[in-house]
Amino acid sequence: MINALAFDVYGTLIDTQAVLGKLTKLFGEPAPAISRLWRQKQLEYSFRRGLMRDYRDFSVCTRDALVYACREHGHTLDQTTIEQLMLAYSELDAFPDVQASLQQLSGSGFALYAFSNGSQDAVDRLLQQAGIADAFTAVVSVEAVRSFKPAPEVYAHLSKVCEEPAERICLVSGNPFDVLGAAHAGMKTAWLRRDPSVQFDPWGIEPDVTLESLNGLASHLREFSL
Ligand code: LAC
Repeated sequence: MINALAFDVYGTLIDTQAVLGKLTKLFGEPAPAISRLWRQKQLEYSFRRGLMRDYRDFSVCTRDALVYACREHGHTLDQTTIEQLMLAYSELDAFPDVQASLQQLSGSGFALYAFSNGSQDAVDRLLQQAGIADAFTAVVSVEAVRSFKPAPEVYAHLSKVCEEPAERICLVSGNPFDVLGAAHAGMKTAWLRRDPSVQFDPWGIEPDVTLESLNGLASHLREFSL
């Protein structure tokens, strides 16, 4: 039985592709490719810093990844443009299915947590301005353990904050690597496949639930007796 639901933030609750408009104004046609590379490198930098045990605020990974992605496409950003894009990244909206789904899940008796690589302050502010902060019992940031997903200690930290054993927690994430990290830590998992072109990693472990949107997550959790 599941008591707590932990939601990944970037790409799961919060739509990071919204920065695409700003990138398109700046760079035109290559903007979608730059945006994808930005996200890919942001995650790669967090994985590498985790392995190197060289923790920095997630915004450092985001900023360095932005500079890299633009460089690969032949653009050197000035400081003002970097700040503008970083600001845009800190003021993103929630996906349209988020607000109502969180309300429904909270009404069904689950304790809800936001669980992110982002710093406590950054995630608090992001959820506030997206209008969904009140839905959560707490924001759980990796900052407290100075590592990044999918290091086992960040899932252990989540379990500690939730005051629930791993098997009573279901991680809901759009990121297959996060789903695998949570499954490895003994949690139940729901993969939110917002982009149908994304494939799940063939590691021999499948998510307990796969969803195209957060609508109906409560009934899925019942159906799978989670
Ligand atoms: C997060 C990133 C991994 O919010 O999406 O933790």
